[in-house]
Amino acid sequence: MSAFQKETVLSVRHWTESLFSFTATRDAGFRFQNGQFAMIGLEVDGRPLMRAYSLASANHEEALEFFSIKVPDGPLTSRLQRIREGDIILVGRKATGTLIAGNLIPGKRLLLLSTGTGLAPFASLIKDPDVYESYETIVLAHGCRQVSELAYGEHLVESLCNHEFLGPLIKDKLIYYPTVTREPFRNRGRITDLITSNQLFDDIGQPALDRESDRIMLCGSPAMLEELRELFTARGFVEGNHSQPGHFVIEKAFVER
Ligand code: A2P
Repeated sequence: MSAFQKETVLSVRHWTESLFSFTATRDAGFRFQNGQFAMIGLEVDGRPLMRAYSLASANHEEALEFFSIKVPDGPLTSRLQRIREGDIILVGRKATGTLIAGNLIPGKRLLLLSTGTGLAPFASLIKDPDVYESYETIVLAHGCRQVSELAYGEHLVESLCNHEFLGPLIKDKLIYYPTVTREPFRNRGRITDLITSNQLFDDIGQPALDRESDRIMLCGSPAMLEELRELFTARGFVEGNHSQPGHFVIEKAFVER
């Protein structure tokens, strides 16, 4: 059996010149936990060209969804950005990753902090009813350079608010905090600075960062992850993993190429 399953592209949506998302069929045997990633790709010259991609769909959904950057000379994304409905993509049979609920010790408020396509695993997690069972409040922060790059997340949150089952949970518990660094917007600045200054919590009318109640998941650029790791560690938060749950967990956003 091949390590990769062939799946059919169901839809493609281009959000900006550099961002797109797509859905694909899901093999009945493909299981994953919300927040995990899998290898996906295309067959190029008879060989699989694969990269790690977070699953943006939740594990109760019938189709798979991915959110990707377009890198003009990226070996995979330069090709992947041209896929259309009906095309075949390859999806690895195993999903893995650290951004899963079980890697965090119980808490009251879940902070999902992302930049760029680092939003993808949180798109999966905010569709998970168990997350709303486990936490009183979920804060989804998404930092981008331009307002246009927020579109996928804005659209997602808006559509979840209107969802038959998730809608009431989301309206009750999810606080969406988009922020932009390079042009005017209602929230401005880097997530790191917004946390250090407490501006983020002031803006959403929530209590300050607190190790007793806050659990954190981070996904984004390596520099952002490193700065936040230092910041949280300095405040006594302990990083969790599969063998030892902690106060926060980290995954880099993969899809650079
Ligand atoms: P900035 O515009 O100040 O660089 P990118 O597109 O480069 O991946 O960046 C996505 C978002 O992440 C941008 O808003 C960018 O802000 C921000 N960012 C980049 N580096 C850091 C960092 N070290 N800490 C927090 N945010 C960062």
